[in-house]
Amino acid sequence: MLIIKKIKILYKTIILLKKTNKKIGLVPTMGNLHNGHVKLILLAKKYADIIIVSIFINPMQFNNLLDLKNYPQSFKEDCIILKKHNVDIVFFPCIDEIYPNGIRKQTFVEVPKLSKILEGSARPGHFNGVTTIVCKLFNIIQPDFAFFGEKDYQQLLIIKILIKELNYMIKIISLPTIRLKNGLALSSRNNNLNSKEKKIAPYLYKIIKKTCEEIIKGDNTRKNIIHASKILLIKKGFSIDIFDVYNSKTLENSSENVKKLILLASVWLGKTRLIDNKKILLIH
Ligand code: PAF
Repeated sequence: MLIIKKIKILYKTIILLKKTNKKIGLVPTMGNLHNGHVKLILLAKKYADIIIVSIFINPMQFNNLLDLKNYPQSFKEDCIILKKHNVDIVFFPCIDEIYPNGIRKQTFVEVPKLSKILEGSARPGHFNGVTTIVCKLFNIIQPDFAFFGEKDYQQLLIIKILIKELNYMIKIISLPTIRLKNGLALSSRNNNLNSKEKKIAPYLYKIIKKTCEEIIKGDNTRKNIIHASKILLIKKGFSIDIFDVYNSKTLENSSENVKKLILLASVWLGKTRLIDNKKILLIH
């Protein structure tokens, strides 16, 4: 497994690989790898000959310095996981390599349709940071396929729009959220939960599931169902940024005649931000 820290070296390696017609799969990460990342790597192996995993905690997508500082890092352990799964290249640049002139005046990529609502409104600038680093990785690595988890649903939609509107010839493959047995969505941020919070956290998905089931049943208005669920979440100890149902394609507030919906949840448990979602398909 090659660990490459410099863009120039990675770029030269990519040119050589491209000459051999190998299909390249990119799994972009911020490290602190868990089973969800492993599942992405295993999925990538089904599509591509060469698997590249990038590990970069991207400061441009953090609107909160403390959040950036607290983001868990475990490069040594990550490498053990990546080696075990026969990843070919790990791209592990430092901040100066990616942003040699700092991030304040960095040219950025914005997907105006979706980047300022929901998570984008709760975390101003977050999605511009995501789309900018993702474009940089796409330009340096020129993958045939790139793999993203569905837990970050708004991020996934934004990246799909970016691919289409900027004419990248990259196929985006997504993976359904990987969960613990108790339903908690895997996330590097779970490592920041204390033992009491770890017991509470699984209620998020339990309440999401219950809400979706009630919406499908349709015995009560959507507004009442969501309201009751929010009260339940607060009672369990969550504070809520986002908990509502949206059109799953446009993320607009769903009108009654939209059939494909998504429940998006973004909550705080102590100092940890947890996000999750569940699709709802109405057939009546
Ligand atoms: O989903 C993530 O881990 C990050 O947002 C990504 C896509 C690696 C960009 O930094």
